[in-house]
Amino acid sequence: MNIIVEVGYLIATVSFLGGLKFMSSPKKAKTGNIIAASGMVIAVVFTFLAIMFNAVPTINLIVILAAITLGTLAGKRMASKVEMTAMPQLVSLFNATGGGCAMLLGLIEAHQLDVNTSLTGIKILLLLGLITGAIAATGSILAYRKLAGKTKDIRKALVVVSSRLLLALIVVLPITYFAGVLPLSFEVMAYSMAVLSLSYGILFVLPIGGADMPVVISLLNSITGIATAFAGFVYGNKAMIAGGIFVGAAGILLTLLMCKAMNRSLLKVLAGKFKKTAISGDTEDQNIKPISISETTMQLTFANKVAIVPGYGLAVAQGQHLCGQLQKLLEARGIQVDFIIHPVAGRMPGHMNVLLAEANIDYKHLKEMNDVNEDMSHYDLVLIIGANDVVNPAAENKPDSPIYGMPIIKTHESKQVIVMKRGMSTGYAGVSNDLFGMDNCNLLFGDAKDSLQDIVNQLKLI
Ligand code: TAP
Repeated sequence: MNIIVEVGYLIATVSFLGGLKFMSSPKKAKTGNIIAASGMVIAVVFTFLAIMFNAVPTINLIVILAAITLGTLAGKRMASKVEMTAMPQLVSLFNATGGGCAMLLGLIEAHQLDVNTSLTGIKILLLLGLITGAIAATGSILAYRKLAGKTKDIRKALVVVSSRLLLALIVVLPITYFAGVLPLSFEVMAYSMAVLSLSYGILFVLPIGGADMPVVISLLNSITGIATAFAGFVYGNKAMIAGGIFVGAAGILLTLLMCKAMNRSLLKVLAGKFKKTAISGDTEDQNIKPISISETTMQLTFANKVAIVPGYGLAVAQGQHLCGQLQKLLEARGIQVDFIIHPVAGRMPGHMNVLLAEANIDYKHLKEMNDVNEDMSHYDLVLIIGANDVVNPAAENKPDSPIYGMPIIKTHESKQVIVMKRGMSTGYAGVSNDLFGMDNCNLLFGDAKDSLQDIVNQLKLI
């Protein structure tokens, strides 16, 4: 039986790898997700088979089946109900369950461990899995609450000092325990570490700005992967080890890429350092030039080459399908339409790609920021739909700006820009945008979906 289970785990591991490979292309990402999810189903089925053939009490099997059923139903319900804009919150909640699970596995094993015969290596792995899992569990719950606006950032010195103290204890206590200095049973040690790590998860996330939460979620996701890999080593479960390592590695790479795209160092994110001061001129000093729907429609029809730059506001308005309609109507008139996506537009990696894919916008129309930035002057018109920070020239020319150094789409270098937004609110970074007052920029005020609908209606008439 063992060999069959091992083959099952191998198939699961290959599916995870295949899934990841497919996910590197927006076109194949959906298939990649299905392949990786199938790998997970295979891993669960073979683990279940392995327990069944190991003469496990029937009550255990019933509990496991009940947990799988409940988890599947709850997961399906949450995933099908969630709005695209709330996806990071959902990821965070799922991540909390993964971390919590790794911690509980550690506690159960610590309880059952035969302290006299167990190897120190196993105990170390067990504690590492438990600690990382506990940090990821409470950290993710708090990250979810912050993203949902239910908990505020607390940057008090007491929080920072306590979190550093806890971290020191989490590092020092196990070392002294394994050095034989701490006269505690392994079980007491495990429970103490769980309490300390759960508390650290909260204190570690508390001071970090809500604005940096997507980065933190990606980091916590990576920590959960590492916790799972540690638990996999304890059980000698190869699918768990491989899955955990993939999640851990992918999570940390994603974290670093997000930091790079925002020009923020991970250390600054973790230290909760984000300048919130309004900079680069007040909106009141700017020469804001509103534009009407009909003027926008006319400008679009007169253009030969148009770029659409989507941002978080498009996701809020859920205007992606109208965006697709607009593109088709313009193309029917012989106008070239490109979509330019910034790597951190929206609130999660690939947010805009997913949104445009939902509207069946062909990938050949999607342009990478770096590929078009030097040729922005070739665009007759750039239509910015709900984007703000990712097109803010302050990132290039205002060294005192919190977003200074962040790569942007240089829409201000195009012939004409129209920004669709509801009012004069700032974007995610909380800073005013110099683009809005520039000579070649007009603002089309209103909900992006309503405005797009009006433009599409007018285009159909003329
Ligand atoms: P933002 O800078 O957040 O700007 C969004 C804009 O959309 C706002 O100006 C808002 O103005 C407008 N808006 C909101 N709802 C709207 C609606 N219904 N209709 C029309 N407009 C609407 O968005 P962005 O340019 O996409 O930048 C993303 C930001 O998120 C960056 O600062 C980035 O660093 C940060 N971030 C992203 C990620 C990832 S991975 N994507 C992770 C962490 C942080 P009004 O309220 O006036 O309408």
